[in-house]
Amino acid sequence: MKTRITELLGIEHPIVQGGMHYVGFAELAAAVSNAGGLGIVTGLTQRTPELLAQEIARCRAMTDRPIGVNLTFLPIVSTPDYPGYIRAVVEGGVKIVETAGNNPQKWMPLLKEHGIKVIHKCTSVRHALKAQAIGCDAVSVDGFECGGHPGEDDVPNFILLPRAAEELRIPFIASGGMADGRSLVAALALGAEGINMGTRFIATQEAPVHPRIKQAIVEASELDTRLVLRPLRNTERVLNNAAVQRLLEKEKRLGDQIRFEDVIQEVAGVYPRVMQDGELDAGAFSCGMVVGLIHDIPTVRELVERIMAEAEALIRRRLPGLLG
Ligand SMILES: Cc1cc2nc3c(=O)[nH]c(=O)nc-3n(C[C@H](O)[C@H](O)[C@H](O)COP(=O)(O)O)c2cc1C
Repeated sequence: MKTRITELLGIEHPIVQGGMHYVGFAELAAAVSNAGGLGIVTGLTQRTPELLAQEIARCRAMTDRPIGVNLTFLPIVSTPDYPGYIRAVVEGGVKIVETAGNNPQKWMPLLKEHGIKVIHKCTSVRHALKAQAIGCDAVSVDGFECGGHPGEDDVPNFILLPRAAEELRIPFIASGGMADGRSLVAALALGAEGINMGTRFIATQEAPVHPRIKQAIVEASELDTRLVLRPLRNTERVLNNAAVQRLLEKEKRLGDQIRFEDVIQEVAGVYPRVMQDGELDAGAFSCGMVVGLIHDIPTVRELVERIMAEAEALIRRRLPGLLG
């Protein structure tokens, strides 16, 4: 399948694995790229630029296909060493960066100077237009159903994607709620040029995540995510668990008075405990509503090939058949 995204990124299938804290290590990114998609190493999971450089080198040793690095620009007090992380990307020969969080404008000249293609992930048409205006090559449009940070507008992909198609010149990728060939064909119909998946890729053999978490994803339904941190205007969609229940209870009790310090116990330092140690209730961790469509733990290659085969069957057989 050829789309503007496969052409732009030099990949075989229009399937991207979004950056995921403590999931997007070299093993998963290389597996996705080797399967013909775009694998993305998550920059900030590596505590220093030196560690990111090592992780990129590890990924490069596992695949000779294009890979990307996610740089999440966080609205936090102690700013990470972004110039250092970008240096690791450049020196590691990585040519694709997925940016997320704050507007990447400040970093665009540096990224562009080194011929890096920038995909900015955002949750609204206005932010997508801004990304286009500052020279991003593509955007990932993250709908309300997505795992992680859906923003504060609450527009689901059935509206957000066609709205993006109405406004954007640059190609865009549908993100949030994508799981299978049906998602891919629907995303293409709505104007996207490919799909970005987070939650679906956690439940794969190669994801370096504790088996207990993969099993929890298989067992959860589409009713099992919750939105947390909304009162702090930092909404996150997470898998419901004991810590999330505690967090929501605090949000209810403290109302407008809530501060980040009140919830730190449920959110800080949670990811290694969840993803690596398999402590399901250690805290709030991102998970999309798409969890209701995940029923198995295939290899990444099986997953990608299944998506492409399902999409092809839909496009070649089911859809033309409707026209009689
Ligand atoms: C466990 C987890 C961690 C994530 N961490 C990040 C991150 O560090 N940076 C980022 O830009 N997006 C992050 N995301 C968002 C994904 O890249 C992707 O946009 C999102 O998962 C898409 O929605 P889906 O889960 O419905 O596929 C994370 C998502 C999950 C599920």
